[in-house]
Amino acid sequence: MGLFKFLILLCLIASVFSVDLYGMRSPAELVKVNSENGTITPVGGIYTHEAVGDNVGCLDSKNGIYYFMGTNLETAKIDLLGMDIHSADIKYTIPTTFVTEGFVGVAQIVQCIDDSDDVIIMGRDPKYDHKHNLVRVTPQTNTWKELNQFNFLDPLGGGHTLSGETVWIELTVNISGKYSHKLFGFDINTGKQVFEINDDDYYTTGLNYDKESGMVFGIGIVPQFTNRVIMQLNPKTGIITRLFDLPSTYFLATPPTTINAKDGIGWYIMNDRKVDEPWKLVTLDYNKQAIVKNVNLCPNPKDCLRGLEYYEI
Ligand SMILES: *[C@@H]1O[C@H](CO)[C@@H](O)[C@H](O)[C@H]1NC(C)=O
Ligand SMILES: *[C@@H]1O[C@H](CO)[C@@H](O)[C@H](O)[C@H]1NC(C)=O
Repeated sequence: MGLFKFLILLCLIASVFSVDLYGMRSPAELVKVNSENGTITPVGGIYTHEAVGDNVGCLDSKNGIYYFMGTNLETAKIDLLGMDIHSADIKYTIPTTFVTEGFVGVAQIVQCIDDSDDVIIMGRDPKYDHKHNLVRVTPQTNTWKELNQFNFLDPLGGGHTLSGETVWIELTVNISGKYSHKLFGFDINTGKQVFEINDDDYYTTGLNYDKESGMVFGIGIVPQFTNRVIMQLNPKTGIITRLFDLPSTYFLATPPTTINAKDGIGWYIMNDRKVDEPWKLVTLDYNKQAIVKNVNLCPNPKDCLRGLEYYEI
């Protein structure tokens, strides 16, 4: 290998591993996470809203805004908040019509769109008889465009991601008392349901779209519940496949589950099923089908992050 190629390789390796990650912990505090050693550095806090819900956030890298949905502790209303990732100042407060049912954050999603300033959000809405209301919000103009309403059951920490014009959401359907785990795809312009994929074998969650391969990755569980599996969903065909198995010592810290994938790399917050063990930040290489890094993230799982997103520079 020539020196030039070697240097390029070094740069590629460095760019893969030295990603800036941002996360949210509760009480609401924006933090920066070093992907190499799991060091958490606070950026700033806001304490008017809780941030207990798992995985109800996204990072708009092009505008440097971290969005999350939380309940205002004084008014008990749920708002979408957008914080500047450098100063932690709140730039946008968008009131929603959603309510919390059961667990905080369940049935809610927040998903940034790569090539638009808009954010896709979802929550249970009394306006529609407590159905899910899928909405496209433009925070800069406080525009609220309702896309679709439906009523399914909500897996805890429900996975969601965006591939092109499709937002993918993990939901459970109750067919006369028989429960079926599904991955739904909705068009982010029209709200039309474009996919309904059966996933009763692996209960895939932690959905991650990887631009490089054009695939959605997720993390499932084998029927015997012994270990986790990495799943691959082709968002064009809707075909879902079991890609590779993780060792049984890598479970999943129930949620937050995932950070969006980048260049074939995905991150998950995992534990080894022992409640008191530190939670780890695990780096996966989907091409190599292997765990390529594993660092301690939260010595005390109770204080761990509720969401984690990568910052695409
Ligand atoms: C983690 O890595 C960053 C950047 O390389 C460094 O500044 C920091 O000191 C490291 N923290 C620990 C605990 O090693
Ligand atoms: C599922 O459907 C059955 C029959 O239609 C109903 O009795 C049951 O309450 C439903 N379960 C939930 C959790 O909604």
